[in-house]
Amino acid sequence: MSPLRIWLIGFGMVGRWLASALDAHTGRLATRYGRAVTVVGIANGHDGFVYDPDGLDLAAVLAAADAGRPITGQPGTRVWPTAIEGLRATEADLLVEVTASPSADGEPGLTHMRQALDRGIAVVTSNKWPVALHGTELVALARRQGVPFRAESTVMSGTPVLSTLTEGIAGAVPTALRGVLNATANFVLSQMADGTSYEDALTSAQREGLAERDPAADVEGHDTVAKVMILSALVFGRQLYREQVTCRGITGITGQQARQAASAGGRLRHVATLAFSGPDGAGTVTARVQPEALPARDPLASIEGVSNAVVCQASPVGQVTITGPGAGPQLAGQGVLSDIIAAARWQLANS
Ligand SMILES: NC(=O)c1ccc[n+]([C@@H]2O[C@H](COP(=O)([O-])OP(=O)(O)OC[C@H]3O[C@@H](n4cnc5c(N)ncnc54)[C@H](OP(=O)(O)O)[C@@H]3O)[C@@H](O)[C@H]2O)c1
Repeated sequence: MSPLRIWLIGFGMVGRWLASALDAHTGRLATRYGRAVTVVGIANGHDGFVYDPDGLDLAAVLAAADAGRPITGQPGTRVWPTAIEGLRATEADLLVEVTASPSADGEPGLTHMRQALDRGIAVVTSNKWPVALHGTELVALARRQGVPFRAESTVMSGTPVLSTLTEGIAGAVPTALRGVLNATANFVLSQMADGTSYEDALTSAQREGLAERDPAADVEGHDTVAKVMILSALVFGRQLYREQVTCRGITGITGQQARQAASAGGRLRHVATLAFSGPDGAGTVTARVQPEALPARDPLASIEGVSNAVVCQASPVGQVTITGPGAGPQLAGQGVLSDIIAAARWQLANS
């Protein structure tokens, strides 16, 4: 069978990790999962879109990016100034969308995804805001076109939350979930429980490469708001507006509050809550992100450092807890890679 042809849009930390993983493991992926993969198009914001229908030389594109040369300077390839133009003019079987699109409108990622789905081309993405703002629309569009739409690494990176809740317990009726969904915020609160100041804990998170240089989205809770909206759309089938999720960050937390929760045997955690009065996302919604002092018996209290967790209530399963590392480009790349393999297997089964 011919290889799965991929467009890789976004060539930052996640896109480059993926390109090197696909380059290093082409043979293994084909043997293990029964379908070879080839990257035919790559784009970033600065250089535009480069395309070779026979497959790009990933090592050469990576070398160009690492050396600060344009990724589009590959011999024998075709080039378009933007991803949108390149996507429109070329062919592939799967769009891997790993640009970073802001919370205001989720663009340019949203347009890239709609463009592919409109043409009946499957999409996998790690890009949070397009999915947070338009998740149910993208899922419905993919369903109408009969192709996969997957966004595993938008929530807890490579730890399989979305596939567990939508496929692993498919058929169960989810009613509510709680989670610790931001690695930086949890790292900071964990350190503060041990007596470190907020400022020192945040500096340490930045030194570890966890926090953004501007960590506002992490510590003010906006990143977690996006994840709550994604979980609502993809697990419960209910699209939320951003204003429906109340949000309080951890910036005002004092060391005393963190130590007090710890001395009582519990922990202060930045908790996301999502609940519906009816089954499958029906009825009144409760959606919030806020610091909470949790007793030791709460499963979220023991989630330390860069670990994250989701505790989901679903009938007839009861309580399902998924825990694992919550951030990092390799982990985000791994989540996308697992989605690529799932999409490849789906196409194999449906060809
Ligand atoms: N890093 C993580 O730990 C992590 C974890 C989970 C999810 N994610 C999500 O995964 C996505 C990628 O993350 P990242 O860390 O790789 O981000 P990044 O390093 O900032 O890379 C973003 C890439 O998108 C490209 N881009 C921007 N506008 C574009 C456009 N119009 N057309 C084509 N490419 C465009 C950028 O190109 P230029 O460099 O030329 O501007 C850059 O190559 C983000 O949405 C992020 O939120 C990341």
